[in-house]
Amino acid sequence: MSAVSLSDVSVRYGRVRGLDGVSFAIEAGERVGLVGESGSGKSTLCRLLVGLRAATGGEVRILDRSIPDHLKADPSGFRRTVQLVMQDALASLSPRMRIRDLLAEAIKIHALPLEEAWDWIETLLGRLGLSPAILDRYPHEISGGQARRLAILRALLLKPRILVADEPTAGLDVSVQGGLLNLLIDIQQELSLTWLLISHDLRVIRRVTSRVIVMYLGQVVEESDTEALFRRPAHPYSTALLSVDASNAAERGARPIVLQGEIPSPVNPPSGCRFHTRCPVAKAQCRDKMPELQPLDGGRRVRCHYPYSLQFDQASTSTFAREASS
Ligand SMILES: Nc1ncnc2c1ncn2[C@@H]1O[C@H](COP(=O)(O)OP(=O)(O)O)[C@@H](O)[C@H]1O
Ligand SMILES: [Mg+2]
Repeated sequence: MSAVSLSDVSVRYGRVRGLDGVSFAIEAGERVGLVGESGSGKSTLCRLLVGLRAATGGEVRILDRSIPDHLKADPSGFRRTVQLVMQDALASLSPRMRIRDLLAEAIKIHALPLEEAWDWIETLLGRLGLSPAILDRYPHEISGGQARRLAILRALLLKPRILVADEPTAGLDVSVQGGLLNLLIDIQQELSLTWLLISHDLRVIRRVTSRVIVMYLGQVVEESDTEALFRRPAHPYSTALLSVDASNAAERGARPIVLQGEIPSPVNPPSGCRFHTRCPVAKAQCRDKMPELQPLDGGRRVRCHYPYSLQFDQASTSTFAREASS
């Protein structure tokens, strides 16, 4: 039984295609990364997984039950099962309540055993490097770094089975971020958490995850074992995305591939392969026919007619996107 599985899921915002035909599964206890430029559908996917938004098509299953069924049968249980750490989690909190009262409220809403919950909060405070004195502060009285840690604490308070984290450590300085990520990995292992991590920082993705899903304009374009992807991406979009990663570029001695052109409109996505308008190696077929997400070696899947046709080594010689012409 997968912890999370999506089959042919789409989300429309009016005419905007937020997600289009997304399918993948995450097994229990896995740490999976989600990457892609802004607008590719990452946050939409997060909101979908925690039931904040419904799919317009297809089905999302959490622990082998569809989200609408979860919400019908046991909404509170479902909220405990899947927790989201948002980019700006504390902004949504009431500024008039002390942190202690905010946590007490969550304990009450979810009817957690009181003593056990406060013990767990104490443990988490210690492990997150937060002083218990923070409980008596108001949200505006804490620093950005403390707010990030508190958002993680709030999510872990409910001992979820699945954690969805949208840039949980963005904006923290590198050493703090490193410590926090190690800690999250420890807790993830202790609780056998399933963890979906979104980050623009590819070094974070490489360090934390064992598998990566790459998205472009609402579609999955590649799914791969993390190390295999960083060593040799199969989709030209992944190649370009990873070529700007400092750790990878240094390893490769390759120059970054800078994609030319705008991200196309999600109202009218390009025909054929959605990436063809910006792909340095697009051919005529790419304009005409949408590639399927096809299986490759080692459990990898890629949505490209010509996988591996753009390599890091070509970075210095590659030309920029041209209109595919025959
Ligand atoms: N509430 C909304 N209303 C209309 N369009 C939206 C809304 N939320 C997201 N979108 C659009 O859906 C697409 C995916 O957005 P999003 O999921 O936020 O991507 P990401 O998190 O990868 O930047 C974008 O084109 C975005 O403009
Ligand atoms: Mg986002």
